[in-house]
Amino acid sequence: MNHFELREGALWCEDTPLAEIARVVGTPAYVYSTATLQRHYRVFVEALGEHESLRGALVAFAVKANSNLSVLATLARAGAGADTVSEGEIRRALAARVAPERIVFSGVGKTYAEIAFALEVGVGQINVESEPELGAVASIARESGRCAPVAIRVNPDIAAGGHAKISTGAAESKFGVSRGEAERLYAAAAADPALKVRGIACHIGSQITDLAPMASAFAVMRELVLDLRRGGLPVERLDLGGGLGVPYFNQPDPPGPQAFAAVAAKAAEGLDVQAVFEPGRFIAANAGILLASVIHVHERPEGRRFLVLDAAMNDLIRPAMYDAWHDLRPVRSRQGPRRDYDVVGPVCETGDTFARARPLPPLESGDLVAFMSAGAYGAVMASEYNTRPLAPEVLVRGAEWALVRRRPTYEEILAREPAAPWL
Ligand code: LLP
Repeated sequence: MNHFELREGALWCEDTPLAEIARVVGTPAYVYSTATLQRHYRVFVEALGEHESLRGALVAFAVKANSNLSVLATLARAGAGADTVSEGEIRRALAARVAPERIVFSGVGKTYAEIAFALEVGVGQINVESEPELGAVASIARESGRCAPVAIRVNPDIAAGGHAKISTGAAESKFGVSRGEAERLYAAAAADPALKVRGIACHIGSQITDLAPMASAFAVMRELVLDLRRGGLPVERLDLGGGLGVPYFNQPDPPGPQAFAAVAAKAAEGLDVQAVFEPGRFIAANAGILLASVIHVHERPEGRRFLVLDAAMNDLIRPAMYDAWHDLRPVRSRQGPRRDYDVVGPVCETGDTFARARPLPPLESGDLVAFMSAGAYGAVMASEYNTRPLAPEVLVRGAEWALVRRRPTYEEILAREPAAPWL
């Protein structure tokens, strides 16, 4: 459920008409709903809370999905921790007042500087993804006289996810260590006084709509906890990652948080661990839209009808990159039969196509449209390709709204590039 609804023929976000936002900030622009963000966080936590083994879990929002400071602060206030993958994301989480202890630092290629920074600010868990990284974390911890809290990221060799490019759990993917290696590294970490090994972590993919691979991966994790303990090693945390899919409206509804929680609970049952989750898309995707305007409709004599928008692949890259399907809704519907449109942006690439032969009601130049489910992996993946300024971001709360990231001016964009002195 989300808070983007039709009222008297026009699309609103909570108690704010989207047309009003477009009038003030222009298009393209991202718009997020506070109530939806809060609701998704709450239903996730409530679903976990139905199981004894998951009570008190740390729900660390995957900052990569939507790193806007006001979005993070909204979730932090609701109680969320943060799953981060760079110094920049850790800084964002801290700026949004996530307690350092509730920050998880993941990622296959953490630099020396990033690890040192994470230790200095006191993040609660560094997910170590390889043997060299474990060595690096230990030596940086020793140098700085700190004890590094680590978890070993295990690659359970189970692939899952909505698209090959977002599947991370297969043995050939770059993420994590094999189960056998994990046992060895875990023992090494437990023996190193510079490290406090807290547990094990996994994340097998994103936009997962079938819980079976998750159940298999979680079972591998459970077995590993038991094996480690049999070997006399303490395991206090079990991080089961993110990955729960969301409805993009062109597919049957994916399993909800209750079904997901039941699968996770089975894995954690009786282990007496603190469970950790890293949901991103589940919380943010349907809490945001990308507002765009129709530049014109271009009808080819041979039949194709192009809806040319002022939003492009640089603003929302998911269709170009993953063949992702985003529902497209007119902000104010016109009467008339639906016809098929190829929905494209102004970037000079054929890949700048949001949808092919999408049936839509009549649309004209100047009309506003909204790409739905764009709150996760939307603005964060935007670029200034074709020197198109990054779309601004707006956060709505009821009838009030705020510009939470400005659109840069052309002057700002050009000013970032000092001329080489010889030019
Ligand atoms: N934890 C780790 C270690 C991850 O790598 C990810 C996502 C998450 C948590 C959050 O997963 P979620 O709950 O959002 O599925 N750009 C792609 C998605 C890439 C996901 C990368 N990792 C897309 O637009 O579909």
